[in-house]
Amino acid sequence: SSRKPIIAGNWKLNKNLKETLAFLAEIDGKLPSEDKVEVAIAAPAMYLIPLVHHRGNNPLKVSAENVYFENSGAFTGETSPKALADEGIEYSIIGHSERREYFHETDEDINKKAHALFAAGVTPILCCGETLETFEAGKTAEWVSGQIEAGLKGLTAEQVSSMVIAYEPIWAIGTGKTATAEIADETCGVVRSVVEKLYGKNVSEAVRIQYGGSVKPETVEELMSKENIDGALVGGASLQAASFLGLLDIYK
Ligand code: G3H
Repeated sequence: SSRKPIIAGNWKLNKNLKETLAFLAEIDGKLPSEDKVEVAIAAPAMYLIPLVHHRGNNPLKVSAENVYFENSGAFTGETSPKALADEGIEYSIIGHSERREYFHETDEDINKKAHALFAAGVTPILCCGETLETFEAGKTAEWVSGQIEAGLKGLTAEQVSSMVIAYEPIWAIGTGKTATAEIADETCGVVRSVVEKLYGKNVSEAVRIQYGGSVKPETVEELMSKENIDGALVGGASLQAASFLGLLDIYK
């Protein structure tokens, strides 16, 4: 496809400042050309500004792992879309399954975050994905379609064309159980067909859809060879610079 893949690490609640800077030093000068792949790191809010300030000339985008949907006010503990934009942070993950599960985020909250991010000029990476129970009941397509329809509500065609959607089956996150490339491709295809139904072919051909869930340097090539998979959202294998760089070897 003509879509540029996007490989994004998601550090979750890991690393301190020293480790963040050491990671940047290790990847310095080693990322593939921006023409071939977009590369991003999502980090805890505290380390976003250091990542921006110390990424140097490396083609590395920086992403928040979460954001709030208001830009200012009495919302103790939150990070605003405007703050991300003001500091040069390009992306924010929204609706990660860990946010939905542990922090009770709803599709409605996530949709508000998508609107707020676009208003501020930050690109959302909207996550969706089903539990093992839903997968085993054969209800993945229905579940994921509902999450996508709700998450995209009210967004324009132009916005959706420019954003990233990440399909992450919950049963494959941090479990070492990668979905087979066929299953991953099939569900990313379902996501693309929902976008087509809502916005038409031009938008569904433009939106980038990542797969996430135990992606490793050894499994990334087959996953990325699939028609509907345009990148990866990677937790565990993004923490060490060597393995992060290993994910990008196929773009060298
Ligand atoms: O956002 C990343 C995903 O939750 C995947 O995490 O690669 O450790 O399975 P994982």
